[in-house]
Amino acid sequence: MPKGQPPTLHGRLRADTRHLHDHLESAVDIEKVILSRVTYAGYLERLHRVHVAAEAVLCAIDFAPFGFDYAHHHRSRAVEDDLKALGNAASSGDAVPTFAVLPSLDHALGAVYVVEGSALGARAILPQIKSSLGLDEAHGASFFIGFGTEGKAVWRAVLAAIDDIPADSARADAVVAGAIAMFNFFTDHLPSEAVTATRQA
Ligand code: HEM
Repeated sequence: MPKGQPPTLHGRLRADTRHLHDHLESAVDIEKVILSRVTYAGYLERLHRVHVAAEAVLCAIDFAPFGFDYAHHHRSRAVEDDLKALGNAASSGDAVPTFAVLPSLDHALGAVYVVEGSALGARAILPQIKSSLGLDEAHGASFFIGFGTEGKAVWRAVLAAIDDIPADSARADAVVAGAIAMFNFFTDHLPSEAVTATRQA
């Protein structure tokens, strides 16, 4: 950040959740996930369950005050397509506990930041999936394309809404709390084995 600029809430979010992201990333262990199409399909099933559970809460929220619409279920649907391409049926999502009701729209903004931001990491994984498993965005790995045109517009709107909030405000604390809640939810349910996760209250 240039000297003299006040810190942005996006910068604070990244800093305050980096340890949770890094722990989740190592718990997921993508190298193991892409060892075979069987282990990869298992990962997609878990990914489907967490996204269905997150969307059940987030897609019901009206984000119009922040200038974007989140009623679509594009992440879980992309995973469903990928499971179908591999000949597997998508799980219903019933096996995952319900994601907590969020106490405010600012908490919800933090939670959306995590779900949408995960597309950046997904995009980084695609080349490994291609070379190890012979799948691509048209067949079995559409989730890992990152953002489509619509997704990119949502991500920009999410970041704009985040940076409209002063980084040291009580509202910012709520956004960070929502992001932490979503990271904890993914950490509890996405890795293949129960992990003694770096959770944060
Ligand atoms: C499973 C393996 C994962 C890997 C290898 C990974 C890797 C990455 C990488 C490389 C970035 C930075 C990309 C860029 O700046 O262009 C990133 C960003 C991000 N990832 Fe992950 N990620 C993974 C999983 C996840 C998951 C499951 C979540 C959500 C629960 C997540 C949430 C985020 C968020 C929110 C950002 C955006 C940070 C920001 O720029 O504000 N990641 N990830």
